[in-house]
Amino acid sequence: MNSGVGRAAPVGAMPSPLRIAALVSGTGTNLQALIEACRLGEIPGEIVLVVSNVPDAFALERARRAGIPAAVVDQRTYPSRAAFEEALGAALRAERVGLVCLAGFLRILSPTFVSAFQGRMMNIHPALLPAFGGKGMYGDRVHQAVLASGARVTGCTVHFVTEVPDGGPIVAQAAVPVEDDDTVATLTARVRHEETRLYPLAVRLFAEGRLRVEGNRVRILPAPLRAVGTAPPAPVAPPADRS
Ligand code: GRF
Repeated sequence: MNSGVGRAAPVGAMPSPLRIAALVSGTGTNLQALIEACRLGEIPGEIVLVVSNVPDAFALERARRAGIPAAVVDQRTYPSRAAFEEALGAALRAERVGLVCLAGFLRILSPTFVSAFQGRMMNIHPALLPAFGGKGMYGDRVHQAVLASGARVTGCTVHFVTEVPDGGPIVAQAAVPVEDDDTVATLTARVRHEETRLYPLAVRLFAEGRLRVEGNRVRILPAPLRAVGTAPPAPVAPPADRS
């Protein structure tokens, strides 16, 4: 059971533009989608820091190419989990981040760390939570489990992070069909494509202050009315191949 991250309180009302940090461990496809959405003005925010716990993660190269400050905080170089998380938290606080996006970050964070960023930390998971989630469910394992189950539909989920792995309030989901001849590779690709559309959308809603957490549910508030003659916000377009 999950108590949620807030009660009827707007959680996205940050000063504009939102200062975003991304925590990564791998290829950084989702990071790339967030970088492009910020650059195009689809998200009223800026990625101010990328932190990887894996020194040779390709996501770091993506940050470098985009001119975003990047850091490695590798748990293997710290004497304890607490010391690792202290370093991680210090890096985030130093940049005064308003939102932390876990984008393929393969470490489970302690309840202490999570509570310090309560309502300000999101994750993307490559399945329709609460199915195919939780401890040990990451990467290929998720898609293997989906295929083994015979499910006809899978997808991806963006949720707020709580102390329950993959258990926080759901912000947005996208469904993806499972085809008869799917393999882990084909399913990963189809889901990943939707992920790169969904994560920028969820971050945009947060940056616009339009997410309200009520228990374990997230209400999406309507977009504010615009004055006649002002430009509409840029649509979040389906991404091109970002791999
Ligand atoms: C994605 O499938 C995401 O849902 C999961 O980890 C993967 C990260 O991929 N949390 P990438 O590093 O964004 O390419």
